[in-house]
Amino acid sequence: SSLKIAVIPGDGIGREVMPEALRALDALNSRHDLGLKLDHFDWACIEHYQRHGDMLPPDWFETLKGYDAILFGAVGWPAAIPDHVSLWGSLLKFRREFDQYINLRPVKLMPGVACPLAGKKPGDIDFLVVRENTEGEYTNMGGRLFGGTQREMVLQESVFTRHGVDRVLHFAFKQAQKRGRKHVTSATKSNGIAISMPYWDERMKDVAAQYPDITWDQYHIDILTARFVLSPERFDVVVASNLFGDILSDLGPACAGTIGIAPSANLNPERNFPSLFEPVHGSAPDIYGRNIANPVGMIWSAVMMLEFLGEIQPSCTTAANELMFAIEKVLQEGPHTPDLGGQASTTDMGKAVADAL
Ligand code: NAI
Ligand code: MG
Repeated sequence: SSLKIAVIPGDGIGREVMPEALRALDALNSRHDLGLKLDHFDWACIEHYQRHGDMLPPDWFETLKGYDAILFGAVGWPAAIPDHVSLWGSLLKFRREFDQYINLRPVKLMPGVACPLAGKKPGDIDFLVVRENTEGEYTNMGGRLFGGTQREMVLQESVFTRHGVDRVLHFAFKQAQKRGRKHVTSATKSNGIAISMPYWDERMKDVAAQYPDITWDQYHIDILTARFVLSPERFDVVVASNLFGDILSDLGPACAGTIGIAPSANLNPERNFPSLFEPVHGSAPDIYGRNIANPVGMIWSAVMMLEFLGEIQPSCTTAANELMFAIEKVLQEGPHTPDLGGQASTTDMGKAVADAL
């Protein structure tokens, strides 16, 4: 059987790191007979928006809905298009309309990567941020009221549904069951955000009671960010709303080295729609065009894709393990891009990963 993958490099360094993930996938695909079938889509700010006035073609949903996965680079070209237009016009459409309600980001200090936190070694930092990805604080409900500068008033709603909160909490507990420390931490702020966050806490308590094998705790987001930096070894699975999860899942990878190696998955665990795999970083206009972007975040995202596909096609699991092993080898032995302190190019590092395979 074949697995259909939609490849969308997007903007900026998305276009430089994607070929390196494809290089690795090509090698694995032929060796393991994975049956991956890749189709390419040039849907991005420069290529698509500037020509058609829209980030995606009108039939994007029909075009993509039959795919097993989307491998995505990055979106955004702020010099030409405001970020909220490009993001809501593309990535957020995928997340919402394909109901990718889980955003999963592993945070792991890897051998060979310098840790910005004093005294931490590989093994000390190894946790998973599970972010709610379809509701919460990220809505476009609200508006500007009472025109005129003196009385202008701006409202933006947050949305927390029982269905939406419970399913992300259940997912977090199920992830914890698969991991060693069997612990879930909930990010909250129920002292300040007095309606939605106490509700989140209430659901957390209820769902946690259904997993007696898993321990859990909760912290206000402000002190939680401090603990990420001061004692990251305490964490195993961290579950958070859309906004808090967004912040934690950038902070986490920063604590574990460079954002250039951090991967993520946007999952529809039921597989009713394609899931999307992308590096945590954006299009990095500041370094685009110089072939110095670290390709590991993108390649590691392909590992997450293979792991997810492995649940339906076991050979993908073998391929995922091999690719992760290759990444670890190159992180440890080099060559390294400048963000890791080296002088290698994106292509050098990508080729080294493919060679290690
Ligand atoms: P960014 O992640 O693109 O860059 C932040 C900093 O990290 C920059 O200094 C960049 O050079 C560096 N960096 C990022 N990836 C790197 C890599 N692979 N290797 C080495 N260094 C790397 O975030 P920024 O600058 O805030 O946003 C730039 C654009 O990307 C904006 O349009 C933004 O909206 C978009 N963006 C898109 C995301 C996505 O597609 N999921 C996520 C984050 C930002
Ligand atoms: Mg973010």
